[in-house]
Amino acid sequence: MLRIGMLTSGGDCQALNAAMRGVVKGLYAKRKDVEIYGFLDGYKGLMYSKFNVMGAKDFRGILNKGGTILGTSRQPFKLMRTPDDKGNDKVELMKHTYHKLNLDCLVVLGGNGTHKTANLLREEGLNVVTLPKTIDNDLYGTEMTFGFQSAVDVATEYIDRIHTTASSHSRVFIVEVMGHKVGWVTLYAGIASGSDIILLPEIPYDIDAIAKAIKQRKKSGAKFSIIACAEGAISKEDAKLSKKELRAKRAAENYTTASEELAARLAKKTDAELRVANPGHVQRGGNPCAYDRVLATRLGATAAQMILEEDYGKMAAVRNNEIIRVPLEEVAGKLKYVDPESDVIVEAKLAGINFGEK
Ligand code: F6P
Repeated sequence: MLRIGMLTSGGDCQALNAAMRGVVKGLYAKRKDVEIYGFLDGYKGLMYSKFNVMGAKDFRGILNKGGTILGTSRQPFKLMRTPDDKGNDKVELMKHTYHKLNLDCLVVLGGNGTHKTANLLREEGLNVVTLPKTIDNDLYGTEMTFGFQSAVDVATEYIDRIHTTASSHSRVFIVEVMGHKVGWVTLYAGIASGSDIILLPEIPYDIDAIAKAIKQRKKSGAKFSIIACAEGAISKEDAKLSKKELRAKRAAENYTTASEELAARLAKKTDAELRVANPGHVQRGGNPCAYDRVLATRLGATAAQMILEEDYGKMAAVRNNEIIRVPLEEVAGKLKYVDPESDVIVEAKLAGINFGEK
């Protein structure tokens, strides 16, 4: 009997179910004696032995379903060695469940934090295979994570809708796009939606340059402007501060989001009628787009192959449209940022998009 544990951890995203389905289909295509232990709500299920014993039929009909049929939760990596309420070591609890169930391998679907824990479990001797999920696309070792393209589609459609109302009212709209510390979703949704200004954490902005760009657009006859602002967007001045200084400054200023801060600062520099719009978690919700369904299926099927070949300790990833296997120690603890010198940024600038630079 092949006994496989599976869990989804961290923020959810589109195509998690598609990926799990890919793994299960890949396993059952080669073996009939497979048992899946679906841990509930991420690593928590593994810690406290909360699972469903599942088979092929449980993964049917979920290719196009958003969310995750296993549930998920955030279990910060930095607290993994901090004892739980009952004084138990969380890593030891997870190892205990794995060994008690006599698992052959644990399949983990997750983003950055999840991969740090997956790597820790590998170091602790568990057989682990992982899959790269997150709308943020910030996972090192893969060119693309599933969830990203779906989130870009949602954010693009949202900005499209903002466009029409911005135009009717001659307003400047700041749309805040998710992405945590990186600007991938903002960059692609910004270009796809024809945003005039795109602000990314990787390119700290100059407030005067943004105000000037808005005024110039008005002068040239454009009655409105759209700013796609990453949730992690930061000004040139703030980018120079230490983490501690920045926290203190933000607490004193009382802004809760990057877009609110930007709006307040822009209001002092232009007489434009400003509005802020925030699509929020809608970007992670709903059904996966076709691209993500295909990517998740390919990655899931590859994970199944890795299990059957006992090729553990790796993440199935994509590079140059090929599915590859990357050792977890190369992935864990690193972020994949947008390169400000990359072709896509250069070309966006050639197409007239302003990145808030002087
Ligand atoms: O990592 C995905 C993500 O949606 C980020 O873009 C965002 O910063 C964060 O999760 C939001 O987290 P939560 O769902 O815990 O509010």
